Amino acid sequence: MKTLITESEISERVKELGATLSEEYSGKPLTILGVLTGSIVLLADLIRATSVPLRVALIQAASYGGTRTSPGTLKINSALVPDLKGRDVVVLDDIFDTGNTMVGLFEAVKEFQPNSVKSAVLLWKTARTEVSIEPDYYGFKIPDEFVVGYGLDYNDEYRHLPFIGVMEEEDLKSVHG
Ligand code: IMP
Ligand code: MG
Repeated sequence: MKTLITESEISERVKELGATLSEEYSGKPLTILGVLTGSIVLLADLIRATSVPLRVALIQAASYGGTRTSPGTLKINSALVPDLKGRDVVVLDDIFDTGNTMVGLFEAVKEFQPNSVKSAVLLWKTARTEVSIEPDYYGFKIPDEFVVGYGLDYNDEYRHLPFIGVMEEEDLKSVHG
């Protein structure tokens, strides 16, 4: 596996994102809504880099019947989402790929009648965007390659890696067996 973004590059950028959120949400009722499961590592680091009062909440997004390159049917589980009425929500995910997940999340979150909804992601695969929105905050733009680590998975593995790595075509095949 090849390293695309190192642990220290991520750490520096996450601190910058935290500083940006701290400025933009000063005096506002901020809720950072982490998307399970991919955002958990970023969530833990970003909230500690953010100096304004905030709440943390979780929502789940999963896609069924998809493949590595084409997502399946999006299913959003809002069962864990607390009252967001009047709050300024930042939906935090690991990656903005086609953008369809974020669009679905925005629809689900808007039903809770928040004051505002924005998106933040660590990675943005700019070449694959299929929707009319773009991430409001992002860490890094990346090329169209399959990446893992820092929360991102392949077959639910590799999330624990502290860096972002690119899976080689060989590794992707060998996991399939
Ligand atoms: P989107 O709906 O196409 O934007 O896809 C978003 C979801 O696809 C993310 O939350 C990830 O779970 C998954 N995903 C997309 N690209 C990658 C990747 O390169 N590595 C791991 N997961 C990915
Ligand atoms: Mg995911």
